[in-house]
Amino acid sequence: FSKSIIDKYLYSMRLSDETLVDIMARFRREMQNGLSRDFNPTATVKMLPTFVRSIPDGSEKGDFIALDLGGSYFRILRVKVSHEKKQTVQMETEIYDTPEDIMHGSGTRLFDHVAECLGDFMEKQQIKDKKLPVGFTFSFPCRQSKLDEGILITWTKRFKASGVEGADVVKLLNKAIKKRGDYDADIMAVVNDTVGTMMTCGFDDQRCEVGLIIGTGTNACYMEEMRHIDLVEGDEGRMCINTEWGAFGDDGSLEDIRTEFDREIDRGSLNPGKQLFEKMVSGLYMGELVRLILVKMAKEGLLFEGRITPELLTKGKFETKHVSAIEKSKEGLNKAKEILTRLGVEPSHEDCIAVHHVCTIVSFRSANLVASTLGAILNQLRDNKGVTRLRTTVGVDGSLYKMHPQYARRLQKTTRRLVPDSDVRFLLSESGSGKGAAMVTAVAYRLSAQHR
Ligand code: BG6
Ligand code: GLC
Repeated sequence: FSKSIIDKYLYSMRLSDETLVDIMARFRREMQNGLSRDFNPTATVKMLPTFVRSIPDGSEKGDFIALDLGGSYFRILRVKVSHEKKQTVQMETEIYDTPEDIMHGSGTRLFDHVAECLGDFMEKQQIKDKKLPVGFTFSFPCRQSKLDEGILITWTKRFKASGVEGADVVKLLNKAIKKRGDYDADIMAVVNDTVGTMMTCGFDDQRCEVGLIIGTGTNACYMEEMRHIDLVEGDEGRMCINTEWGAFGDDGSLEDIRTEFDREIDRGSLNPGKQLFEKMVSGLYMGELVRLILVKMAKEGLLFEGRITPELLTKGKFETKHVSAIEKSKEGLNKAKEILTRLGVEPSHEDCIAVHHVCTIVSFRSANLVASTLGAILNQLRDNKGVTRLRTTVGVDGSLYKMHPQYARRLQKTTRRLVPDSDVRFLLSESGSGKGAAMVTAVAYRLSAQHR
């Protein structure tokens, strides 16, 4: 029956626990390399210090703006944190379009666009005359030597604007705002989306010390002991480290598990040779991975009686949201029929079952891979604390994790199997990273006010 044929066909995508444990150990070594002074400049997994030293403690308050750029949507938020009897947060959000020509044009135009949207938002909020503190969630790898600096190392995912790599995004945004001259803003903090997510969840759960994103891209951050962070002075306390695990494998260390489909995805991407782990895992690539598999299988006559249509051959025509729809337990097969029919391949019932199975293998691999890298972080935390059993909370966000009907359960199950000596709570961030970014900004603002 077709299922076992597909199992054989996609053998190299079905990772055994033995392999996952091995990948977990490899990633742990990558983490160690990134943290150490000797390896860091060349490390594949960058392990970037974020200058965030604690999760929210409940004392934060004020009126803040949060920018959230780099995921599926560009959002601007106003976050009011007040302290009546207890800490309460009130938020208002606008979503702004970021057309592709702006993502791929000049950096100046990109930041002009961000500044224009911010102006529009302040206008709507009637706060153009105020100078509110701004927290900037910028979900790309940045070097930081302080909270209000972010030097873009490299673009990832959908973005590729010129003249930004190597520059400080706070300076670029400030320049764009000054040029307009119609409002003022005080950018207090740049945070990665993983950090914003960890802080958002930390607001509700004091045990939260990991932030995880499985959306357009994938990445995680966690609270590391200062004594292990060679690149930052001081040995006391902890600091959040943005791992940038999407780049795992960029030095060839995952070649044994990458498939011909992964290589093809990479060749057709905006950043060939980079973010190889991310390309096996995240939402920007998953639908396309499935499409490439379907094309090959159809060419070999294993699907659709060999029918190949221009739609099936078009990049991007099979999206990750289709994978999610097809894996729904009840309507899945009907969805498969609908989606495949739109691609013009006239699927039989058997074809639908087969495509469902392909989707399962690809999305399961993704969850398995994330369980391995997350497992490495959990082991690190457990060893840092010197306990035999780790109790912790992982704050999670991202469209793939949220929309895929089976992903969260599979990830949680595999993680618990790979790290049995742990009680891990997965906490979904209900309000994105904006609230967390505002918390970071609140602390930065209070500290800067003390020095003024
Ligand atoms: C959002 C966060 O909820 O999730 C963003 O606010 C983050 O900061 C995003 O980048 C990740 O998910 P996606 O699917 O939009 O890439
Ligand atoms: C990419 C970015 C990273 C971000 C992740 C999730 O991997 O490089 O900074 O956290 O996507 O959005």
